[in-house]
Amino acid sequence: MELPFVGRSAELEALRMFNEAQRPKPLFVYGPEGCGKTRLLLEAVRRFKGWFPDGEALYVNMLADRLDDAFMSTAPGLAEFLGRKAAEFMARIPGVGDLVAGAVALAYHYFADWAALGGVARIFVVVDEVVKALGVGHVAAKAKYMQSVMDPTMRSEKLRGKVINYVALTSEGESRGELLRHTYVELGYIWNMPRGDFEELYHCVRGLHPGPAPPFEDVWGAFGGNPRALMDLARYGWDMGKVRRDMMVRVRDLVARLGGYRDVLVRVVEDVDYLYHVDVVRDALIRYNLAMPLLRGAGLGVEPPVDRELGIGRYYAWQMPIYRELLKDALRG
Ligand SMILES: Nc1ncnc2c1ncn2[C@@H]1O[C@H](COP(=O)(O)OP(=O)(O)O)[C@@H](O)[C@H]1O
Ligand SMILES: [Mg+2]
Repeated sequence: MELPFVGRSAELEALRMFNEAQRPKPLFVYGPEGCGKTRLLLEAVRRFKGWFPDGEALYVNMLADRLDDAFMSTAPGLAEFLGRKAAEFMARIPGVGDLVAGAVALAYHYFADWAALGGVARIFVVVDEVVKALGVGHVAAKAKYMQSVMDPTMRSEKLRGKVINYVALTSEGESRGELLRHTYVELGYIWNMPRGDFEELYHCVRGLHPGPAPPFEDVWGAFGGNPRALMDLARYGWDMGKVRRDMMVRVRDLVARLGGYRDVLVRVVEDVDYLYHVDVVRDALIRYNLAMPLLRGAGLGVEPPVDRELGIGRYYAWQMPIYRELLKDALRG
């Protein structure tokens, strides 16, 4: 049984408004791993025709294992059409390794041909996992491509009057720096769920996974509203010790790599905004997906308030409060 979609009304409203008119630039949304980016955008795609009867939405997952899973659309037959195009492309180049991402990237170029055909006035394209699929270095080129599709003066006659807007998703905090250097993207972020919605989700998940679950207060204190971590905990039979041990492996590895920076790490545990001043440690914590920069003012919906308890600073935040606790333990020895 699938969990019901919970909360995120501010984010959905922001996405609806984003599609009201032609935007000048694609919106790249980043956020903690597992905070619900994919689920949110899938929900926006699902609601799209309700918002805009003259529109269609397309979701592209560049990291799909299989081409069949790479596309999802409100337009009848479109996902299958693009899947076929991707398969044709792959069939032409035998013997090359991981091609799904490349095929997907290529296939959605055919999307413009499709869009030119129908009586569709408004098109919303969501591209998931751009950075993991293409690498940080290639993401700027992809963004530029999206921007050129969004610019009506660069389009063919048939596409000129349409609203075409792109959103791309990434968990890789690294790419934020790369994207900020360019003027052809807009950046936004979403955060973990706020407490009330997360509590609702916790009760839904408990309904699906009965067992001796830790009290909500403990789950909130550890995960700070991260739905993936909650799901994983439930799948491990609510065994918080097991989840902690798995996370600790990653944290200890990082501490070993940053051996010369113990004092800096101690200060970062005290105040996550200390990352502002220390690039090596900052870059490492971001690359390990333990911490994340917050582009204040660019939140897509609810921005997390500064909360020292949860490890959310003004400029940086722990992706989950448990990471700070684990780092503290790891530094003790
Ligand atoms: N608003 C929500 N309501 C219900 N479940 C959610 C919600 N947001 C995320 N989830 C669930 O939490 C897990 C992680 O979400 P996902 O969208 O995959 O995160 P991300 O794409 O940010 O890594 C998924 O199992 C997803 O279905
Ligand atoms: Mg995702």
